[in-house]
Amino acid sequence: MIPDKIFKQSIRRYFKCIAPYMEDDSVSEIMINGPDDIWIEVGGKLKKTDATFENNDDLLGGVKNIAQFVGKTLNVLNPRLDARLPDGSRVHVVIPPCARNGISVAIRRFGEFDLSLQKLIEFGSIHPVGAEFIDICVQMERNIIVAGGTGSGKTSLLNCVSAKIREDERIIVIEDSQELQLQQPHVLMLETKGADAKGRGAVGIGDLFHSAMRLRPDRIVIGEIRGGEALTLLQAMTSGHGGTMSTCHATYPDDTLRRLETMSMMSNVEMPLAALRSQVASAIQVIIQTSRFNDGSRKITHIAEVLGLDTNGEYQIRPIFVFRNRGNDPDTGDVLGEHVAVGNLPTFLEHIYERGINIDERWFQPPPDAR
Ligand SMILES: Nc1ncnc2c1ncn2[C@@H]1O[C@H](COP(=O)(O)OP(=O)(O)OP(=O)(O)O)[C@@H](O)[C@H]1O
Ligand SMILES: [Mg+2]
Repeated sequence: MIPDKIFKQSIRRYFKCIAPYMEDDSVSEIMINGPDDIWIEVGGKLKKTDATFENNDDLLGGVKNIAQFVGKTLNVLNPRLDARLPDGSRVHVVIPPCARNGISVAIRRFGEFDLSLQKLIEFGSIHPVGAEFIDICVQMERNIIVAGGTGSGKTSLLNCVSAKIREDERIIVIEDSQELQLQQPHVLMLETKGADAKGRGAVGIGDLFHSAMRLRPDRIVIGEIRGGEALTLLQAMTSGHGGTMSTCHATYPDDTLRRLETMSMMSNVEMPLAALRSQVASAIQVIIQTSRFNDGSRKITHIAEVLGLDTNGEYQIRPIFVFRNRGNDPDTGDVLGEHVAVGNLPTFLEHIYERGINIDERWFQPPPDAR
């Protein structure tokens, strides 16, 4: 592995043609589709650039350097790479034979982590009281899932939500590649690893979760739930490990629960669907749904509580705050609409009072025009 400082210098050398974008805070993503097709995302919109690498070897040298920096191998046998750069950017690389356009790279820039729930309020991404309610859910140790589509801001939001965990808690973070940046003093970071060339030695999210449970956690934060490990996590959440938070790829609260259900079925454990559903419904208590809109903005579209199953075995979800979308401004193309309270009180209101947390029932009243 190469030290950070030397690596930063070599990134500047190998990725000279995209260096201006790597330093421009308005660029959120850089996409390389072979040596001479480079795109960037600015303000949520894609733009093709004039930048090019000298040739394929130039680009290959760069991505191999990244692999070396994170201690992974990138070659014909291991043609995919997940990595994180010292500036916090997340990189994914796919090389031929799996990438038909040539070496394909996406660099997601987070910069030094500076998003917060307060900033999300300023961006119009969340209802101010919604942000307050999320803080309360964290203090009340609710099990929270942040859900959304690809690039909708799930990881950024989980970063903001996890920032609300108290400083005196021991937090264990489990990720595929390091993206979360917790600022609390007592944080243990665990990272999965792939198998070797002979298919041996893979350590997945489920394995690390097993370890986390034995490492005396107050909180477990999981970067993303993607597969059969979902069942292990759900079982731990129902067996009294409160306050767990993670993200999941889904576009609507109901879809989020179904997705967790489907992922649980990918585990080796056979379980009747009814039992699985009741497990999902009792494990997940709060869903924060985020979405990327057609103007490039990201907004929290739902903050909802999961109540359980109804008599037909369907999920009961109680929205607390939603984003009311009113289409796009015909001149600017900006998404119009507002975040509103739906008029539902949280089910655990009494417990919030008992804990002496500041809360006002008026926060949950819808605006007059929505009643
Ligand atoms: N509220 C927001 N407003 C504007 N930009 C945002 C917001 N939240 C996140 N972003 C930007 O959107 C991009 C995607 O964010 P993020 O990585 O959190 O999404 P994701 O849903 O986790 O993506 P993936 O599905 O790839 O894991 C990042 O560049 C991030 O800086
Ligand atoms: Mg993510």
